[in-house]
Amino acid sequence: MKKYLIVLLAVTYAVISHASIAKTYEKQRPPRQLTDEQAANAAANYKKYCTLCHGENREGHVNDHAPSLRSKSLFESGVPHAILRPLSYGREGTPMGGYLDEVGGPLTLDEAWDLTYWLFWQSGAERIKLSEDPVKGDVKRGEQIYQQNCASCHGQDGEGITAPALGNQSALAHNKDEFIRYAIEKGRQDTPMQAFENVLSAEDIDNVTAFIRSKASGWKQEKMPLRPIPTPDQYVVNPQNENPDWELSEGRYVTSEQLYAAMQTKKKMVLLDTRVTSVWQRAHIEGSIPFPYYSNLENRVKDLPRDAQIVAYCSCPRAAADYIVEQLEDMGFDNTAVLYEGIFGWMNKGFPVTRSE
Ligand code: HEC
Ligand code: HEC
Repeated sequence: MKKYLIVLLAVTYAVISHASIAKTYEKQRPPRQLTDEQAANAAANYKKYCTLCHGENREGHVNDHAPSLRSKSLFESGVPHAILRPLSYGREGTPMGGYLDEVGGPLTLDEAWDLTYWLFWQSGAERIKLSEDPVKGDVKRGEQIYQQNCASCHGQDGEGITAPALGNQSALAHNKDEFIRYAIEKGRQDTPMQAFENVLSAEDIDNVTAFIRSKASGWKQEKMPLRPIPTPDQYVVNPQNENPDWELSEGRYVTSEQLYAAMQTKKKMVLLDTRVTSVWQRAHIEGSIPFPYYSNLENRVKDLPRDAQIVAYCSCPRAAADYIVEQLEDMGFDNTAVLYEGIFGWMNKGFPVTRSE
């Protein structure tokens, strides 16, 4: 009898002490409500600018492994900054560009806030309070955990493979330790990111968080002067010369080598950078013009010559460029092509880009 009592006490103690380790999170006040007009505007902006990668229904993973924009844990822990910052400034070196007017547009700061809150209200999540304190842990042990459990999707160096680039400097600058920790603990609902709260100990979640943080370098969003946007008379490069004469694979794609050779031999071309304008501002292929995937084509096609070779590219590597070129084809443009590897592939092969100073 006595033995049973001791066992029972020990079990009770274990349960209580375990419960006291598991974190509890306080709720936080919800953010402001949007007026009907603001909500309608935000919904329209979402549709125009975000569905290409994040999906009609915010489900994510439509193109480029763009994350879900409706998972409960993201909106519990990430509003406003983990939403507002990437949507404003982008994540440098990933297909996620910035949309704020200050970096090239098209959204005003008010619109960016409204879109952030619209996404929050759509998600149905309740905000929780997270500590601002750094998460302390054993970085070495965290690295082991990371390589075993995380690298297959997030990449050995956090560069992102099928999942966000956890080592990305703009993400690390914007996301607090506890935000990262919460994502690991709770996962991201309805995505491949599982909850690790029952897989790893709380201590190991701290360790892996500390490891991810150790990759940060103190990156800051730089203020850069905006370049003037080329005017239609500047669209065609080498207007006096011949179009390139190349074999397109699948009737559409050129390789970086083919494009570079055509540039070197001064062929006549129009290069369309179909990404959001802020990333064109940062770095682009020489001679390209910003022609974002959300451009109003009805207005813009009149400025595109029908006789010159048009080459579109993005970082997707092709989603945005394909989307534009399909529409141009429907409008009767015959000389269209898409850069197969996208601008990141182009850069990885060592071909040059023009960068902002
Ligand atoms: C099976 C693939 C897979 C594995 C394994 C995996 N993740 Fe993820 N992770 C994802 C995906 C996909 C997302 C994006 C989910 C979404 O759509 O929101 C994600 C999101 C995250 C986020 C949120 C990032 C952000 O900016 O919101 C963090 C943090 C994270 N993972 C950390 C980890 C850690 C740490 C591990 C290992 C303990 C791990 N993940 C293992 C696929 C994975
Ligand atoms: C060209 C594809 C593309 C478009 C268009 C795009 N995104 Fe993204 N977005 C991504 C990718 C890819 C990531 C993940 C980058 C990474 O961290 O590796 C991302 C990340 C994000 C994140 C961070 C989410 C998280 O879990 O950390 C937010 C918020 C976001 N995008 C919002 C938006 C909004 C709002 C729009 C429209 C204004 C938009 N995005 C348009 C590709 C895109």
